Amino acid sequence: MKALVCRAYGLPHTLEIAELPLPQLQPDTVLVKVAYCGANFPDTLIIQNKYQFKPTLPFAPGGEVAGTVVAVGANITHINIGARVVALSGWGGFAEYVVVKSTRVFVLPAATNLLQAGATFYNYATAYHALKDRANLKPGEKLLVLGAAGGVGLAAVQLGKRMGATVLAAVSTNEKLAICKSKAADFGINYSTHNLKESIKKITPGGVDVIYDSVGGTLAENALKSISWRGRYLVVGFASGTIPNFAANVPLLKGASIVGVFWSGFAEQEPAHNAANMQQLIQWHTEGKINQQIYKTYSLTEAPQALQDMMDRKVIGKAVVQI
Ligand SMILES: NC(=O)c1ccc[n+]([C@@H]2O[C@H](COP(=O)([O-])OP(=O)(O)OC[C@H]3O[C@@H](n4cnc5c(N)ncnc54)[C@H](OP(=O)(O)O)[C@@H]3O)[C@@H](O)[C@H]2O)c1
Repeated sequence: MKALVCRAYGLPHTLEIAELPLPQLQPDTVLVKVAYCGANFPDTLIIQNKYQFKPTLPFAPGGEVAGTVVAVGANITHINIGARVVALSGWGGFAEYVVVKSTRVFVLPAATNLLQAGATFYNYATAYHALKDRANLKPGEKLLVLGAAGGVGLAAVQLGKRMGATVLAAVSTNEKLAICKSKAADFGINYSTHNLKESIKKITPGGVDVIYDSVGGTLAENALKSISWRGRYLVVGFASGTIPNFAANVPLLKGASIVGVFWSGFAEQEPAHNAANMQQLIQWHTEGKINQQIYKTYSLTEAPQALQDMMDRKVIGKAVVQI
């Protein structure tokens, strides 16, 4: 089968289109013919050997696909051949076919738009787990989203609003701010041109209840200073490339918590809980209540460019690759 192949660790331009053997079906897995594969920041890390998962070389990156089931393992009774699914594969998705463990495959209603599905669920599953299960976000609370126009950021903006929060979207350009506003963010902060702490103080003098951070670095260290009493700081990712060093006096003085978020670990440790979250997200998606902003659809040969555009902070919402 045709795939985007990582033969040696490196940057996106080192990936090549090549033939890989069809992945082998196991008893608890499903073989999916891929229609679309969403590009996610972890893809850019996996190909550089900088991520938690370390697939054996050569491999295809690509952690999130939408497509059609073409074969099911011997133990699978709840997913049928021909079903349209979203599969959160971890890697292997930038290819014509991918084999995925059945606990990470979710059946979609027959009419689901596969392009939208391939762009939405990894980001929304992460953001929903973060806001609901880790922050216990409540209606009326103030939610600050850093890197709010990125994939997991924009998902948090839209889900935060759905959950009744007042959403402050913080980003690096006015173009990104406009997209956040279109996703119903209540307030926008451009942290390239404005001081983050002062901007938050003007909007909400008492600070923010929940901070959702997929960026890290010095931005994170500044943001923590704006947390309110009993606030929750969600550590989602380090797109800036720098893991923040938090001063422990801030959580002490605010009675606040620093809370880790790791969707993959959650899906592995608590599959039933994750499946319930996914059912809720699929329902909202079917009802048109949530959908990811698609930045651009790339062909498989353009997939390295999709990953490079993410690394260059150009992508607003989601880059998707059509297989
Ligand atoms: N914890 C989990 O379970 C989980 C799941 C999925 C992803 N993640 C992590 O979440 C982070 C974001 O992932 P994503 O897929 O949403 O990525 P993304 O779409 O590229 O968004 C990342 C955002 O980070 C900001 N950023 C700041 N410095 C950057 C830099 N040097 N390079 C790139 N972006 C930079 C950008 O916003 P501005 O330009 O506005 O600053 C960008 O929009 C990654 O670290 C990823 O590994 C974690």
